[in-house]
Amino acid sequence: MLLRIPVKFDRFGAILMYDVSEVVSLDNLGLVRGDTVFGLNRDVLLDYASKTAIVIPVKDEDLSLLEGVISAIPLASPIIIVSASSTDPVNVYKHELEIIKTHSKLTKRRAIVVHQRDEAWNEALSGTILEELLDSKGVRYGKGEGMVLGVLVASWLGARYVGFIDSDNYIPGSAHEYALAYYTGLAMANSRYSMVRIVWHYKSKMPPSDIILRKWGRVSAHTNSVLNKAITSYRRIETDVVKTANSGEHAMTIDLAMSIRWAGKYAIETYQLVYLLESCYLSLEFGERTCEMLPEGVKIIQVMTRNPHIHSEKGDEHIARMAAESLGAIFYSSLANSDIKTLIKSTLIENYHYYEDPPRPPIYSLEGVDPSKVISRYLMLSSMALDITTG
Ligand code: GDD
Repeated sequence: MLLRIPVKFDRFGAILMYDVSEVVSLDNLGLVRGDTVFGLNRDVLLDYASKTAIVIPVKDEDLSLLEGVISAIPLASPIIIVSASSTDPVNVYKHELEIIKTHSKLTKRRAIVVHQRDEAWNEALSGTILEELLDSKGVRYGKGEGMVLGVLVASWLGARYVGFIDSDNYIPGSAHEYALAYYTGLAMANSRYSMVRIVWHYKSKMPPSDIILRKWGRVSAHTNSVLNKAITSYRRIETDVVKTANSGEHAMTIDLAMSIRWAGKYAIETYQLVYLLESCYLSLEFGERTCEMLPEGVKIIQVMTRNPHIHSEKGDEHIARMAAESLGAIFYSSLANSDIKTLIKSTLIENYHYYEDPPRPPIYSLEGVDPSKVISRYLMLSSMALDITTG
């Protein structure tokens, strides 16, 4: 893959946020580097792939989609499936396990499967700061909650990088492209605390109630706009640099993943940026908090991929909940003055018929958590998890 090297960036305190970098070529066979593009040769690409664990959150998706996504991720990358799928009355989780077992048998890929609603988490996480993830039946439902477990497993595996790819993707070629964009973007950032977030070239849903390939998802367009306005209101210089507030597809260094705080549910992606802006921008410029990522600072790369992002349609209520949870991450932060709060409320009312205040996201810290201890203990106690080392 060749990425266009971004020339423009905005600096917010210790954060460098780069303008969108397009995928110039999906396959750079024959050329590694021009003056304005960045690509990796085979050996370096392999090195990045083997150091990147890919987390796939799944909750009752069509199994053929999950299978397609798994088949798309380069085999050098270990995969971590975090499932919250039902076990009763139909045991969907059992079928997911079968798919992973067959895949790993054929490929010998390293794969770990954990279930979010596994009671073994209750003992494995008790006494740690992550106890807050729990209810009486394991880790609470929520995409963000599942992603936190994925980070712990990735760290336990010894991965240097962790990437996330949703399991409800109809185009395996796009999932493949995300993985390549992660390896290449993280290499381009070349920094201890860095993150690559995907901007979809086009986006749509299946079944095709609308067959238009849209530039922006509805929620993404609103969250990007609100976040840019919130930053502008502090900086007093207008910005539109944020194009990936809701990017479900993103990757980062494990050092960054273990340092930031994580939000639950669908607030997760927005909150990553909110947390960084609060602690590494506002704290430095306005003295409210300290930035753990100093002196290196944080680099955020936004990559526009080529394949359309086509995922499953889950209805208006789902979209409204996602918008409210995502905008809630901004609403309760120190980025939101009263104008921004009003804007968030009117955005929710006018576009989603959502009349309440957005929900306050649950926030989780990984500070002091020892992933090796937690995951080893979980795997020892669990009768649901699967750790495939050789297939
Ligand atoms: N482990 C786990 N636990 N996985 C979950 C859960 C959960 O409680 N809820 C959903 N997932 C999985 C889904 O199966 C899917 O693979 C992925 O997380 C995304 O969830 P969806 O519910 O399909 O979200 P979406 O496709 O509408 O929205 C996605 O894109 C948005 C940007 O447009 C998500 O990635 C959002 O977080 C993102 O903001």
